[in-house]
Amino acid sequence: MSASTRTSDRRCLAVVLAAGEGTRMKSALPKVLHKVAGRSMLGHVLSALTQSGVMDIALVVGPNRDDVVREAQIYAPQCQSFVQSERKGTAHAVLAAQQALAGYDDVVVVFADTPLIEPSTYTALREKIAQGAGVAVLGFDAKDPTGYGRLLMRGDELTSIREHKDASTEERSITLCNAGLMAINGKHILNWLSAIGNNNAQGEYYLTDCVDVARRNGAQASVVRAPESEVLGVNDRVQLAQAETICQQRLRNAHMRNGVTLIAPETVFFAVDTKIGRDVLIEPNVFFGAGVVVGDNVTIHASSHIEGAHISNGCSLGPFARVRPKSVLGPDVKIGNFVEVKAAQIDHAAKISHLSYIGDAHIGSEANIGAGTITCNYDGFGKYQTNVGAHAFIGSNSCLVAPVTIGEGAYIGSGSVITDEVAADALALARGRQVEKVGWAKSFRLKMQAVKAERTAKS
Ligand code: UD1
Ligand code: MG
Repeated sequence: MSASTRTSDRRCLAVVLAAGEGTRMKSALPKVLHKVAGRSMLGHVLSALTQSGVMDIALVVGPNRDDVVREAQIYAPQCQSFVQSERKGTAHAVLAAQQALAGYDDVVVVFADTPLIEPSTYTALREKIAQGAGVAVLGFDAKDPTGYGRLLMRGDELTSIREHKDASTEERSITLCNAGLMAINGKHILNWLSAIGNNNAQGEYYLTDCVDVARRNGAQASVVRAPESEVLGVNDRVQLAQAETICQQRLRNAHMRNGVTLIAPETVFFAVDTKIGRDVLIEPNVFFGAGVVVGDNVTIHASSHIEGAHISNGCSLGPFARVRPKSVLGPDVKIGNFVEVKAAQIDHAAKISHLSYIGDAHIGSEANIGAGTITCNYDGFGKYQTNVGAHAFIGSNSCLVAPVTIGEGAYIGSGSVITDEVAADALALARGRQVEKVGWAKSFRLKMQAVKAERTAKS
C-alpha cells in the first residue's frame, strides 16, 4: 500500500453534528449530553473518534450551547466548535463548519446522538475514501426501515439515498438503510455540499444528496455495512435505554473476556471507563458509576454501589457496600455489609466490617473499625477530617466527631463519642460510666406487683 492510501497517513477531520435538537427527550438537558454507561452520548462519539485516530474535530452545535461545547472539550480539548443558527438540514449543518473543512484528505460526518459506533467503523469508512471512493456511507439492514433514508444500490455501488419522506412505495420496501454517518473526499467536500439544494419533502439541505452530487461529478459512492445495534440513533428515552442495554452487553462481555467473573452478568452495570483487573468476582446487582478502578483478586459481593473509587488488589466489598467518589482502598481492605465510604483513604488490610459511615477520613493499615462506627464529618456548614492511625481499634457504635485524630494502636471503648485527640496506644472511653444497684430489679417488681393487686381489688 502506498503512503497516500494508508488511512493512518491521511489527514482526517470529523464533523460532529450536535445541533438540530429534537424535542422527544422531554428534557432540560441537551440530547447529546444524556448519558449511556456513565458517559454522555457526545463523549462516546468523541472517544471512539479519538481511538480511531481522528484527532481533528469540528463540532456543530445549536445557538447558546456552551454546555455542549464544554462537554466536548473534556474528550477532545483541541476540537473547534461552530454554531448552526437555524436548523436547515444535515448538509447545511456540515457547512456551518465550512472554515474548518479545507486541507483534509477525508472528512467523516458523524451524528452525536449515535453513541455506539465502534472506532473500527470510522476507520472502515475512511478506508473506502483512501481506496478511491468519493463518498462512503454507513449502511445497515433495518428490521423496520420506516423513517430512515434508503440506500439505492446497483451491485456494490451506491447510486442514491432516498429519504423516507421522499421515497416511492417501491423504494420504501428496501431495508438497506442509511445510518447517517459518512466519509467524504476532503478535496471535493466543499464543492459537493455547496451544490446540494433543498427541493425535497422537508425543504432541507440533505447531506445524503452528496451521493448524487458526487456521482454527477464522476466520483463513486460505496457502502460500509454495520449491525443495526451499532448504528442505533437516540431520539427519545426509550432509545436511550436501548443504547444502554447494548452498551452494557458490550462492557460485560469485555470484562468477562478480560478475566472478571460475573455470576449474573445481566444484573451488573458498568461505566464505560470502569477498569477491572484479573480474577475479580462480581456477585449479582452491582453498579459501577464513572471513574472506578479495581485491581486483581477483588471480590465485590451482591448489591454494592461503587463510583469514583480506586480499589486495590485483594479487597473485599459488600454485600450492600456503598463506595463513593474519592475513596482509595489499599490492598486487602475489607468493607463489609451496610458500610458507606466517601472521600476516604483506607490503608492496607484495614477492616470496616459492618454498618458504618466513614467519610473524609484516613484509616491506617490494619485498623479495625467496629460495627456502627460513624465519622461525624459535617456540622451543616463544613466537612472535617478524621484520622485513625494504623492498628487502632475502634469499638462498636462509636462516633468520631471530626476534626479528630486517633493515634496508632489506640483503643476506643464501644459507644464512645470521641471529640478530642487520642494518643497512640491509649484507651479512650467517652460514655456514661455503668452504675449497678444490686437487687434493685427484684424489689421493684415486688413493689409494683403489690400496687397492681391493690388496684384490681378496688375495681
Ligand atoms: C438522517 C438521514 C437519514 C438516515 C437517518 C439515520 C439525512 C438527510 N438523513 O435522517 O438518511 O437514515 O439520519 O438516523 O441526513 N442535525 C443538525 N442540523 C440540522 C439537521 C440535523 O445538526 O439542521 C443533526 C441532528 O442533531 C442529528 C443529525 O444531524 O444529530 C441527524 O438529523 P435528523 O433530523 O435526526 O435526521 P434524520 O431525519 O434522522
Ligand atoms: Mg435522526
